[in-house]
Amino acid sequence: MNTNISGMKRTDMCGSLRPSDAGRTITVNGWVDRVRDKGGVLFLLVRDRSGILQCTFDKSVNAALFDIAFTCRTEFVVAVKGELVARDPAAVNTKMPTGEVELIASDLRILSRAETTPFEIDDNKEAGDQIRLKYRYLDLRRPVMQRNMMLRHRVTQIARNYFDEQGFLEIETPMLTKSTPEGARDYLVPSRVHPGKFYALPQSPQQYKQLLMLAGMDRYIQITRCFRDEDLRADRQPEFTQIDLEMSFVEEDDVIAVNEGFLQRVFKEVLGIDIQLPLPRLPYREAMNRFGSDKPDLRFGFEIQDVSDIAAGCNFAVFKNAVEGGGTVRLININGYADQFPRKEIDKLADFVKTYRAKGLAWMKLAADGSMTSSFAKFLTPEEVEAVKSRAGAQPNDLLLAVADTDTETALVSLGALRCELAKRLGLAKKDDFKLLWVTEFPQFEYSEEEDRLVAKHHPFTAPMDEDVEKLESDPRSVRAKAYDIILNGCELGGGSIRIHDPELQTRMFRALGFTEEKATEQFGHLITAFSYGAPPHGGLAYGLDRLCMLLAGLDSIRDVIAFPKVQNASDLMMQCPDLVDSKQLDELSLAVTRIEKDSE
Ligand code: AMO
Ligand code: AMP
Repeated sequence: MNTNISGMKRTDMCGSLRPSDAGRTITVNGWVDRVRDKGGVLFLLVRDRSGILQCTFDKSVNAALFDIAFTCRTEFVVAVKGELVARDPAAVNTKMPTGEVELIASDLRILSRAETTPFEIDDNKEAGDQIRLKYRYLDLRRPVMQRNMMLRHRVTQIARNYFDEQGFLEIETPMLTKSTPEGARDYLVPSRVHPGKFYALPQSPQQYKQLLMLAGMDRYIQITRCFRDEDLRADRQPEFTQIDLEMSFVEEDDVIAVNEGFLQRVFKEVLGIDIQLPLPRLPYREAMNRFGSDKPDLRFGFEIQDVSDIAAGCNFAVFKNAVEGGGTVRLININGYADQFPRKEIDKLADFVKTYRAKGLAWMKLAADGSMTSSFAKFLTPEEVEAVKSRAGAQPNDLLLAVADTDTETALVSLGALRCELAKRLGLAKKDDFKLLWVTEFPQFEYSEEEDRLVAKHHPFTAPMDEDVEKLESDPRSVRAKAYDIILNGCELGGGSIRIHDPELQTRMFRALGFTEEKATEQFGHLITAFSYGAPPHGGLAYGLDRLCMLLAGLDSIRDVIAFPKVQNASDLMMQCPDLVDSKQLDELSLAVTRIEKDSE
């Protein structure tokens, strides 16, 4: 049997055919999506990347061809030739883009047969994650996954074109590099040539791209893989892709402007949506105070209000003690939805905030007729109750939810999480509503409990804000950085900063981070030296490409926009890795394995 393509090469993609093509002789190549037997007439629905086309075989016209078609099963790979015709109006299928036409087959070749697949290649039938990932090549045949890959391709092409137009050079940086402190855990690669020594896979090209600025490349972009050995979540993979860029002779506003242009183009070309520029900017502190998050979701309200001043003088111990203990009382108003929260539901919300270390949740509910029930109003004077209501802008059918805590961040973060959770439950976080903003003026440092010292919130090369430089030694915790994140619908899409280019300031920064001179030289000596030979002011940013594509496609997991992702425990179910290697390979690397995962044998 001839299974070669010769003589049967496609003239058209399946999904592209329309009534205007009627009368043409056409060949399509693809997979049999479905076989429909109408007794004497057989339909093969043939699928390729572009869509699905109905190919019709009539026994009364060509019995031999009909018999071959009759042997076809789903996922057989076929070539079909014939005349494209417009369907009878009664036979038009409005659910298919090609539903107004069909191919009247005059030739058919089976290029490859297929066993029954472990799951149906059908967008409407969700197979389990494990099986989808084990047979990812089959999962990727599903039209929705093909669209996700095409969207991702579009975004990367837009990035390449846009940044090229803006004068950026695409430059590759090494994958085998040096382990860096101050980040996630590294993936290490043992060296055969240098026994006992290791490369690290890059967590990002941060140092290289800065060195490229020192090298006079002026503007750099790379669409590059990054590797971080961290706990996985829906928006985190151990290897992920950044659109990474860096620019010389710029300030924060310049980096932001170029990137706003990029985002505007992406939204226009991918979704047809016009993004209004400039995007809003929120300083970190304001974002925390109003939204309890450094990645606020602006698709809904429920902003956090401060009622500490009212609470301070009241007789409710929970409130009073929190404020007296140096803390705060904050609330959110779930305005217009009180009727959706019976008492039992509100008690469950208290359990929710406790997972964010809040100690409880106080509430006040205003019924549609204006009557009030509350867990704390009885402890307050009528004036205090009125003051709280007025601060919250409370109206009938509003629900006020308050957290008191001696730690202000706990109150803010727990209410911030609650506002997002409730918006999600109430259906207010719509996937086709896109709210972008910049969060700026991040703290330079954050306290690491694990290391009991200040660590860089962004990275050690981030420049402090000019007005805060003098506080580097005296009050490091109050120093703000020239760092910015781009946020989309509560997700950190990207982040960057203006870098330190003055070696003296860099030395002060390393000192503030607790590096001794020797330690700094050992780890960053190459950079310190490089900066001594003339460094331009520079800054940049990196987007999580996977996250950008996920949100553009309205998905919940970056896995769905990555061709071959890893599962929660960082393994690849299709390739079955990580895996053991033979002892000869280990010997060559001067490595000995001291512990083996039990079930990996
Ligand atoms: P940062 O560490 O913020 O910055 O990373 C930039 C963006 O990459 C995405 N991202 C991830 N996506 C998927 N899986 C992960 N494990 C993961 N980790 C990060 C996020 C994030 O915003 N060198 C700096 C950038 C710079 O300063 O220019 C950097 O890597 O969307
Ligand atoms: P209690 O006095 O513990 O019965 O609490 C009275 C009300 O205050 C209940 O609705 C509690 O959920 C709430 N509550 C307790 N601790 C806090 C807190 N830290 N912040 C807000 N509300 C709290």
